[in-house]
Amino acid sequence: MEQKSIFISRRSILKGSVASIAGSVLSGTTITAEAQEKSSIRPLTGKMTYEEVRNRAREMMIPRCYVCPECNGRGPCVGQVPGFGGMGASRGFQANYDSLAAVQLNSRVVHGVHVPDTSIDFFGTKISMPVIAAPTGGTTYNMGGKLTEAEFVNAICGGCNKAGTLGAVADGIGDPLDVYEKRLQTLKEHGYKAIVGLKPRLQKDIIERMRLAEQAGIIALTIDLDSAGRAARATKGQTVEPKTFEQLKELVKASKLPLFFKGIMTPDEAELCVNSGAAGIVVSNHGGRTLADTPGTAAVLPKIVDKVNGRCFIMVDGTLARGTDVEKYLAMGANCTLAGRHFVRAAHGGLADGVALFANKMKNELAVAMVLTGAQTIKDINRSMVCIPA
Ligand SMILES: Cc1cc2nc3c(=O)[nH]c(=O)nc-3n(C[C@H](O)[C@H](O)[C@H](O)COP(=O)(O)O)c2cc1C
Repeated sequence: MEQKSIFISRRSILKGSVASIAGSVLSGTTITAEAQEKSSIRPLTGKMTYEEVRNRAREMMIPRCYVCPECNGRGPCVGQVPGFGGMGASRGFQANYDSLAAVQLNSRVVHGVHVPDTSIDFFGTKISMPVIAAPTGGTTYNMGGKLTEAEFVNAICGGCNKAGTLGAVADGIGDPLDVYEKRLQTLKEHGYKAIVGLKPRLQKDIIERMRLAEQAGIIALTIDLDSAGRAARATKGQTVEPKTFEQLKELVKASKLPLFFKGIMTPDEAELCVNSGAAGIVVSNHGGRTLADTPGTAAVLPKIVDKVNGRCFIMVDGTLARGTDVEKYLAMGANCTLAGRHFVRAAHGGLADGVALFANKMKNELAVAMVLTGAQTIKDINRSMVCIPA
């Protein structure tokens, strides 16, 4: 049987205080001495509430993430990159939250919408909702190292697939090729449906990683062009670079998979991506983790959508926490959304079950939002459903 594991702190076990231990006893779980030495593993019951998932995530992730009531870039993670925060004073992270919060939904209740259909077609794959896991890397340096790479991939991709959507696998700048290969191997072993995020490495290195991703049977690729500024932190023998328009075109031609350029924040660069032949773009400031002091994604999205005018698929990310957030981004013109930190927390708090719980929560909230704004299908969501600040 597949071992679903979760870690709780050695200190909390020694104190014998946490209800979670009682829970494990009640469910007949034995915590072995060996497991305690490894800071403890116990199976999940599979019947957790979202609040329990968050509480367990807090045990697992402090001091990387404190699982604040609102993940708005203003918690103790400010400036923690590596870590879970945003660059500088975390203002780009905060701008994501604030710009999305400033968009309001127009309630509409005189219509015949009943049980809305939240599904979309994502390049030939039907997914249960327009929410996919964002690529997130660095289980050790960003997340605290409580989950192994395989556990993390299983949690994110297994959980997203359980909820009918796509998981994601990342390619950390400092991660040697074999770490990336191990992540793909986990995808292959389980037949997960996922997207893969590549770093803007040298062209030949990207193309090598594209081939490996293709062999893992993935659905789409992203390249986070905004990671180019991290060249200074690249480890020996690895490097990242900004890409010219010619290089974008070369990358698009290099793979048959749909390719997204991630980290696009201006209409002129969106235009370049369209002209490169890319399948799509991801409007993203990397959760405020690359260039400090950028605007929020909700603030730049409408102008980018207008410029692109349907010529490529648009995804967006930034502090997505609820179904209403999904509806807002879609109403401004995005075709799909990505969620980063919330999926990572759910993975740490409840592995695949936690991730599926969060994903299903988003889906149910999106369905309610669709009823209350008058959208029967995702295609019915449009700009008239939101008030966008001038
Ligand atoms: C810990 C962490 C690691 C990340 N690693 C990557 C990565 O390897 N590749 C990538 O394209 N984006 C990466 N991102 C950015 C996310 O894909 C996403 O753009 C960002 O987190 C915004 O979404 P959120 O506000 O829902 O977290 C990372 C973000 C976090 C928080």
